Amino acid sequence: MRGFCLLLAVLFCTCLGVHRENFRTCDQSGFCKRHRSLQPGNSDYVVQASSLRLSKTSLMVDVLNTKSDVRFLLQVYGLQHGIFRVKLVEAEPIRQRYEIPIGVTLVAEPEQAELVYHGEVSGQLKFSLGDNQMVINTNPLRIDFLINNEPVSSLNAQGLLKFEHTQEKKGWFSSRVSSLFSFVSQPFRAKKEETEEGVEGEEGAVQEDEKPSDDERDAGMWEETFKGFTDSKPNGPTSVGVDIAFPGFRYVYGIPEHADSFALKTTKSTDPYRMYNLDVFEYELYNPMALYGHIPFMVAHNDKHTVGVFFQNAAEGWIDIQSNIADKSVFSNLADFVTGNNDVPQTDTHWFFEDGIIDIFVLLGPGPKDVFKQYASLTGNTPLPPLWAIAYHQCRWNYNDQDDVRTVDQTMDKFDIPFDVIWLDIEHTDGKKYFTWDGSRFGDSVEMLRNLSSKGRKLVTIVDPHLKRDDNYETYTDARNQGLLVKNKDGHDFDGWCWPGSSSWPDFLDPKVREWWADQFSLEKYKGSANNLYVWNDMNEPSVFNSPEITFPKDVRHLSGVENREVHNIYGMLVHQATWDGLLKRSNYKERPFVLTRAFFAGSQRSGAVWTGDNMGEWSHLKMTVPMMLSLNLAGIHFSGADIGGFFRNPDSQLIARWYQAAIFQPFFRAHAHIDTKRREPYLLPEDHMIIARDAIKKRYSYLPYWYQLFYESETTGMPPMRSLWMEFPSEANIFEKDDEFMTGSAILVKPVTEEGQTSVSVYFPGKDVVWYDIDTYERYVGQEERTVEAPLSKLPAFQKGGTIVPRKMRGRRSASLTHNDPITLIVCLDKNGKADGQVYVDDYHSYEYRQGSYALSHLSFHNFKLENNLVHLGKDFSTKEWVERVIVVGVNTEPKNIHLIDADHNKVDLSHSYDSQTKVLTIRKPGVNVAQKWIINLH
Ligand code: GLC
Repeated sequence: MRGFCLLLAVLFCTCLGVHRENFRTCDQSGFCKRHRSLQPGNSDYVVQASSLRLSKTSLMVDVLNTKSDVRFLLQVYGLQHGIFRVKLVEAEPIRQRYEIPIGVTLVAEPEQAELVYHGEVSGQLKFSLGDNQMVINTNPLRIDFLINNEPVSSLNAQGLLKFEHTQEKKGWFSSRVSSLFSFVSQPFRAKKEETEEGVEGEEGAVQEDEKPSDDERDAGMWEETFKGFTDSKPNGPTSVGVDIAFPGFRYVYGIPEHADSFALKTTKSTDPYRMYNLDVFEYELYNPMALYGHIPFMVAHNDKHTVGVFFQNAAEGWIDIQSNIADKSVFSNLADFVTGNNDVPQTDTHWFFEDGIIDIFVLLGPGPKDVFKQYASLTGNTPLPPLWAIAYHQCRWNYNDQDDVRTVDQTMDKFDIPFDVIWLDIEHTDGKKYFTWDGSRFGDSVEMLRNLSSKGRKLVTIVDPHLKRDDNYETYTDARNQGLLVKNKDGHDFDGWCWPGSSSWPDFLDPKVREWWADQFSLEKYKGSANNLYVWNDMNEPSVFNSPEITFPKDVRHLSGVENREVHNIYGMLVHQATWDGLLKRSNYKERPFVLTRAFFAGSQRSGAVWTGDNMGEWSHLKMTVPMMLSLNLAGIHFSGADIGGFFRNPDSQLIARWYQAAIFQPFFRAHAHIDTKRREPYLLPEDHMIIARDAIKKRYSYLPYWYQLFYESETTGMPPMRSLWMEFPSEANIFEKDDEFMTGSAILVKPVTEEGQTSVSVYFPGKDVVWYDIDTYERYVGQEERTVEAPLSKLPAFQKGGTIVPRKMRGRRSASLTHNDPITLIVCLDKNGKADGQVYVDDYHSYEYRQGSYALSHLSFHNFKLENNLVHLGKDFSTKEWVERVIVVGVNTEPKNIHLIDADHNKVDLSHSYDSQTKVLTIRKPGVNVAQKWIINLH
C-alpha cells in the first residue's frame, strides 16, 4: 500500500484504519434502499395456475405482477441429490438479463431428477422430489420447501419479492446531457425491434414526455452519484430481490466474506450484509461491510436439519437477516405443517441484487454432509492440492532481490525451520509490469528457481490483472491491439490507477481473453519462469484506486456490452480460473497448479486457494481467523487461510508465535507482511518465541499426511477440512454459535489461544460419550464438558477424538517435497468401547495420476485388541515406499503381554513395545509394514 498511500493519500487513504466513507452504505445505494424499504405484506405477484406446463423434471408457469401488469416466467427444476432450482425471469424483457454461463459458477448443467406433480388443492400446486416436497401457493406467489412434510424454507413468505423489469431509458434533461449522448451512442444495449411512439426509432433515444419522476430520481433509479462519481445507469433500475425464510431455524451461516461471527447476526440495527467484491483497506471486525470476495450461499442448521440456499447472481447484493420466534400469521399455510408449540424459532432473510435474475437453489440436506455434497455437485470441488502447497509458505512484501531470497532459504535451514515456498510480491517486477523481472535485482531468476528446486522448494510470484498502459510493455500492447481490454461506458479502453499508475484490465468475461491470459504463463512467454514457479492473483476485485469504491465503475463494459454491474462479483474468479488454466497448460495438464486469489465467488474453489486479505497484526484479527475461515469452508472455499502474523502493523513476537500455532490446523499456511513492517521471518523472533514458531511449523509438517487426506476427502465428498463443531455434532444445540473452537476433519478439536498473556483456556468438549485426548500429553477429557486447559506459550490446545486414527510423519525435513517416502506414525485414540477407525491416502503428491486410479487408500480399524489395515484401493501401477514406523495406541487400560504382526504374506512377527500406565499410552515400535498392504497387529 505504500505507493498507493503516497500517491493518493488525499483521495482515499491515510493508512490509519478503514475508510468507511469510501464505501457505500445501504442508504447510499438506490437499489438497497428500494428493497429495504419494502414492508412485509401481501405480494403483488400471482401465479397463473392455468398456464402450468410440466415436464418429468421441471415445471413452468406464468406469474403476473398485478400492480405493473408485467409478466414473468417461473421455472422450477428438480435436481439430483435433493435440490430444487427456482428461476424467475421476465417473460418479455426488452433487454437480455445477464445469466452466468455454465462452467463459471456451476461446474456443469445440473443433473435433473424426477419432479412429481400431485395436483392443485385450494390454490396450492404440490410437488415432490424424493423425500422432499414443494408447495407453490398461487395467490400471492409463495414457494414452501419441506423435508418429509416439515417446512424448512419458504420464498416470498413475507411478500418482499421485487423484480425491476427492463425499461426504456427515460429522458434525463439534467446537467448531464453530454453523458446521455454518449450513452445513446452505445452499441451495447439490445434493441427492441419495433419502433415505439416517441422513441424516434432509435434505441435508447430520449422520451421527452416521460422524464423520471422526482421519486425515481430520489430513489437513484436512472442515475446515481457517490463521492462525485456518477453512475450513468443506461439501463435504469434492474434489481431483483426476495425474502427467504427458514422456519424452525434460529441460526444461519455462510455468505462469506465478512469479518464477523460465524453464526450470522440479525441486521435490524445495522446495514445488511453486503456482497460486492472490494479492496477494503484495513478492514474492520464485526460488521457486515463487503470484503474481497463473496459467495451467495447460506446454510441454516438446527438439531434436526441442515438446509442451504445458493442464490446464483453475480451482481452486487445485500442480505438482511432477522432471527425471530415464528410469526405464524406470515406462515399461515405453512403453519398447517408445523407441529408443537408456538415458540418455533425462525430466521427471515431478505436478499437483493442490483441486476441479473432470480436463480435460487434450495439444498434440502437433510444433514450437514448432505448439504456440502449438494453444494459441491453444483459449483464443484476443491481439487487436491500438491502436498507442498499445504505446507509452510514464507511470504512478505517484499523479498528484495535474489540474495535476499537465498538468505531466507539458507537461514530457514540453519535454524532448522521447514518451508516449501517463498513468495515474491509486486516489487520483483520491472515497474509493476507482471510477467517481467526487475533485472537489477532478479537478473537470474532461473538460477534462483533452480536453487530452490534443489531442496524441493517452489517460488510464487504475484501476477495482478491490471496492465500498465505502457507502449513498451508487450503484455499490455498485445491485449490492447487485440481488443482484449475492459471498456469504459464510452467504448474506449478503461483507464484506471493501480500499482503501476495508469492501467487497463483484460476482459476476463471473454473466453478468448482467458485463453490469451492462460498462454502468458507458458515458459516461452513468461521469461525467467520455470516449472517450480506458481502464481498469486491479487487486486482482482478488481482494485482501482481512483474509481468509486476503489473498483470498476459499474457502467464499464465487458464482452457483448455487459456492464460490470451485472458481473462484478465473478470478475476476480475468472482471473483466478484463467491463471489456473495457464498453469495446467504449462505442464500439459499433468501437474497440479497452485494459484492464490484474493477475490472470489462461488466456484473459486475449483482453481485453488483463497486468503482473507489485508488483516492486521492484532489479537482480535487472530481471533477472527476462525469464524472467517469457518464461513469460507462452509461455502466451499476449503483451501483458505489468513496472513500469519497479520499483514499490517508490527505484532509482537508472542502474537506471532500464537498465530503460528493457531494456523497449524487451518488449511492454507502462509506468513505474510506489509512492506512497511519490520522483518519477521520466524528465525528473527527472540529465541523462546522462535522455538515456539518452529515447533508449530514442524507440527504442521508432522500432520501433513492427515491434512492431505482431508483434502482428498474434500475433493471426493465436498466435506470442508475445517469444520465448525456443529458440522461434526449436529444435534448439540449449545454449540451452534461456537466459533472460538473448530474441528480439523472429524478427528482434531482445536481451541487456539487468541488473547495476550493467556496461559489457560476454557475448552468445550462436544459429543455425548465421546472421549478426547490432548495431542501432546494424551491427557483424557470427556465429551459435553467445559474444562479449563493449561496453555502456556508453548502449547496449542488441540485434542484428538477417541475413536479416530490419524497418520503423522515425525521425521524432520527441510521441505514437504522431501517427505514423500518417509515412514508414518499412526496415532490410534480409542473410544469408550476400545475402538478406532481411520484412513491412509497416498499418491505421488503432485500429478493428476491419482484421477486415473494411481493411488493407495487403506482403511484402518482397531477393535478387539487388533489393528487391521485393509486396502480399499490400490492403483494397478502404483506403489509406495511409505511404511509404518510406529503405532501409538491411546486409551489402552492394561498393558498387552505381547504384540505381533501378521504381514501381507501371513508371516507372524513379534513386535516390541512400551507402555505408560499413567497416560495409558502404548507405543508399538517398528511394525515396518508398507501402508499399501494388508496387515494386522494383534495385541494380547
Ligand atoms: C495487497 C495485498 C497484499 C500485497 C500488497 C502488495 O495489499 O492484499 O497481500 O502484499 O497488495 O502487492
